[in-house]
Amino acid sequence: MKIFLLASTIASSLLLSTATFAQTPSADTGLLINPAYVKNCAKCHGKTAEGRHFGGPSLISGKTAAASTEDLRNAIANGKGHMPKFAGKLTTEEIDALVRQIQALNKK
Ligand code: HEC
Repeated sequence: MKIFLLASTIASSLLLSTATFAQTPSADTGLLINPAYVKNCAKCHGKTAEGRHFGGPSLISGKTAAASTEDLRNAIANGKGHMPKFAGKLTTEEIDALVRQIQALNKK
């Protein structure tokens, strides 16, 4: 009986902790569910922002982590290499949100 009680206590606390975990959206999913990203960027940088073959590079990299806010904003607004520019397609607020979310992904 004691063993049964112990086992069910462990089981229910396990259940509780997974439930809490599932309910807390991790801060770094922001970019991946941002419609501006999904619509405009995922086709090159991938659904997980980790890049795609023949497409854009991973946005989760030492290079991106080292880039300044200004660099990231510039790359998105004015384009870079084969990356098209998004100034005019996206608002400044949308671009700023993308920059913050890219930075959040790199802070893990
Ligand atoms: C047509 C494909 C394409 C699309 C669409 C695209 N990118 Fe890119 N992106 C690239 C390529 C290619 C590079 C690398 C440019 C280089 O360094 O020459 C790049 C570079 C970047 C960089 C700079 C990364 C670094 O470490 O310097 C950021 C930030 C970025 N993209 C964000 C975005 C965001 C946000 C969007 C959507 C608004 C987007 N990209 C849409 C292809 C794309």
